[in-house]
Amino acid sequence: MLLLGFSIMMRSGLVSTRRYCSSSAIAAKKWIYAKVFKGEPTQHNFQLEVDKLPALKDGDILAQAEYISVDPYMRPYMMAYPAGSLMIGGQVGKVIDSKNASFPVGSSIFGQFGWRTHTVCNPETMKKDQPYLLPSFGNLPTSLALGVLGMPGNTAYFGLLELCSPKKGETVVVSGAAGAVGNHVGQIAKNLGCRVVGIAGSDAKCQWLKDLGFDEAINYKTANIFAELKKAAPKGVDVYFDNVGGQISETVIKQMNLYGRIAVCGTISNYNTAIEKVSDPLRQMVFKQLKMEGFVVWRWNDRWMEGIEANLKWINEGKLKWHETVTEGFENLPMAFIDMLKGGNTGKAVVKII
Ligand SMILES: NC(=O)c1ccc[n+]([C@@H]2O[C@H](COP(=O)([O-])OP(=O)(O)OC[C@H]3O[C@@H](n4cnc5c(N)ncnc54)[C@H](OP(=O)(O)O)[C@@H]3O)[C@@H](O)[C@H]2O)c1
Repeated sequence: MLLLGFSIMMRSGLVSTRRYCSSSAIAAKKWIYAKVFKGEPTQHNFQLEVDKLPALKDGDILAQAEYISVDPYMRPYMMAYPAGSLMIGGQVGKVIDSKNASFPVGSSIFGQFGWRTHTVCNPETMKKDQPYLLPSFGNLPTSLALGVLGMPGNTAYFGLLELCSPKKGETVVVSGAAGAVGNHVGQIAKNLGCRVVGIAGSDAKCQWLKDLGFDEAINYKTANIFAELKKAAPKGVDVYFDNVGGQISETVIKQMNLYGRIAVCGTISNYNTAIEKVSDPLRQMVFKQLKMEGFVVWRWNDRWMEGIEANLKWINEGKLKWHETVTEGFENLPMAFIDMLKGGNTGKAVVKII
C-alpha cells in the first residue's frame, strides 16, 4: 500500500496541461477494489497494481489518464462488484497511440475507464460507456469534463430543468449545495430568477455559496435546519433538489409548498451508514400534492452534448462559475475519494494524474 504525500489545490481559474507520449513500453498502474466497503472507506479497501497492456489491434486506441474523477456514486456502486475488481470511474485522457482514425494521437477524450493510468480499447466496438472526443472548451481545463462540463454538470442541468421546472420567483432549496452538482443547481436556479437556499457542511462552504449568489446558506452541522429554513424560505419551498436524503430531506420536505417538486438525485447521508429513520413523506406528498422523482443522469444520454454546450455557454457568458478541488497524483486517488465522502471538497473533486 502506498501512502504518499497528499496535496490538494483549489482552483477556479485557467490551467493548461499539455503532454504527449507515444511509447508503447508503458508502466501502467491501476487501483483495485481490494476489500469490500464496510462503513467509511479506508486505504485498506484499495490496492495499487501494475497493469499489463495488450498490443493495439485495428480500431484500438491507447489512452493516458490526465484527470480521474472521484464521485460519491462509487461508494454504493462498488458494492455490486466483487473484491478484486478495478475501481470504476470516469477520466479525461489523451490518446497517445491509435489505430483508429476517429481518435487520432493527441486527441482529448472522456472515458469510463476506471482508476487506471492507461487504457487500450476500441471505442466503436464497446457495447456501453463509449468514450467520446471532448468538444473544444477554449482555454478552460479539460478536467471540467469530469465536473461542470460532464456528468455532474449534466446532472444539475437535466435534473433541475427537466424534473423540477423552476419558475422565476419560486424558492429552490438544494442540499449537498457546495459540491459539484449542488452548487451548479443553485447557480442555474439563480439565473432563472429563483430564490435559492443551499444546505452544506461548513461555514466556509456556506460563505462560498453566498459569494456565488445563493440568497441563503445553512450549515447543517451546526444549525437547527428547520428553524433556519423557515427564515431562509419564508414563503415555503417550491423546489427541492435532494443530494443527501435522510433527516435533512425530511426537514425540507415538511416545508414544501402546494404542488412542490422534488428531484431525488442522491442520498449520500446513507452511503457509508445504515439508513436513518425518518418520518414517512407520503402524508406531505398527498396533502401538498407534491411531485417527487428519482433519476439517474444517464437517462439523458441522447442529449449529453446539449447539456455540455448549455453549461459551456453559461460559463463563457459569466453566468456559471466552476470550482475544483484538485488532488495531485495517481497514488492519492483513494485518499481523494475518502476525503470527498467526508466533505473535504468544495465544487468538483478531481485527481490530476499528469
Ligand atoms: N442521480 C444521478 O444521476 C447523480 C449524478 C451525480 C451525482 N449524484 C448524487 O448527487 C450527490 C452529490 O454528488 P456530487 O458528485 O456533487 O458530490 P459532492 O457534493 O461534490 O461531494 C459529496 C459531498 O457530500 C456531502 N456529504 C457527505 N456526507 C454527507 C452527509 N452525511 N450528509 C450531507 N452531506 C454529506 C459533503 O459535503 P458537506 O461538507 O456539505 O457535508 C461532500 O462534499 C450525491 O448523492 C451523488 O450520489 C447523482
